[in-house]
Amino acid sequence: MVFLHLQACTSSQKKKLKNNKCNGIQFIFLIIIIMDLIHPQAESYSMQHSTPLDSVLQELEAFTMATHPKSHMISGSLQGKLLEMISRMIAPQRILEIGTFTGFSAICLAKGMRQGGMLHTIELREDDAATAKSFFEKARMDRHIVQHIGDARKLIPQLTETWDLVFLDADKVSYIDYYELTLPQVRTGGWILADNVFFHGQALEAEPKGKNAQAIHAFNQHVAADQKTEQVVLSVRDGLTLIRKI
Ligand SMILES: C[S@@+](CC[C@H](N)C(=O)[O-])C[C@H]1O[C@@H](n2cnc3c(N)ncnc32)[C@H](O)[C@@H]1O
Repeated sequence: MVFLHLQACTSSQKKKLKNNKCNGIQFIFLIIIIMDLIHPQAESYSMQHSTPLDSVLQELEAFTMATHPKSHMISGSLQGKLLEMISRMIAPQRILEIGTFTGFSAICLAKGMRQGGMLHTIELREDDAATAKSFFEKARMDRHIVQHIGDARKLIPQLTETWDLVFLDADKVSYIDYYELTLPQVRTGGWILADNVFFHGQALEAEPKGKNAQAIHAFNQHVAADQKTEQVVLSVRDGLTLIRKI
């Protein structure tokens, strides 16, 4: 059971397990870490006892999984419901999403907006933006979602809104830039959500390797040291940080 989920261990955990270079207590400790990180049973139990996605979101998830070569990038049903619930709690008027992909998380977040609310979402890839557009129409959300196509680093400064909620979910090496670009435009008491803050467990390594894991670790340290915000890192899926501007 544990070894079925070995792909989700950090590489030093993998090495130790494969080389059997740990004593019995360390081995059990590693298993606990691995199980805690992945929670396969907790994940499926949570899914079974959470409200399922609506039919359009189910169709979008299935379409993305069946047709997109990078389908793993979609938030997925459990996190999608969580994003919707967080948005409903905040009841935002203005949301900014960085990284539309096929539009899944945008629809989830838009469901929580108050009446008259608008979600702006930025995507680099035209193909993905086109898929998202078709699903925004299917979900009857197209009048409440403004799509921007291009590099978020260039587009964010052109948006003159005040954000109640920002969702960071584009290229990981730019997370600090996105945070610094958007924070001045987040209202006091407003929120930033950052996805993939564990970066497949690689950011948890003592010395993260690879530019994405290193960038995410640097982002996590950057946010933790920022006196302008308070934050909590949720060990949901690939790690999700809730940041509040104070
Ligand atoms: C992890 S996916 C987003 C997943 C989506 N939020 C969801 O949950 O369904 C990241 C997306 O960011 C886009 N992206 C990467 N770099 C970008 C950039 N510089 N500006 C805008 N979008 C970018 C990618 O093309 C990709 O579609």
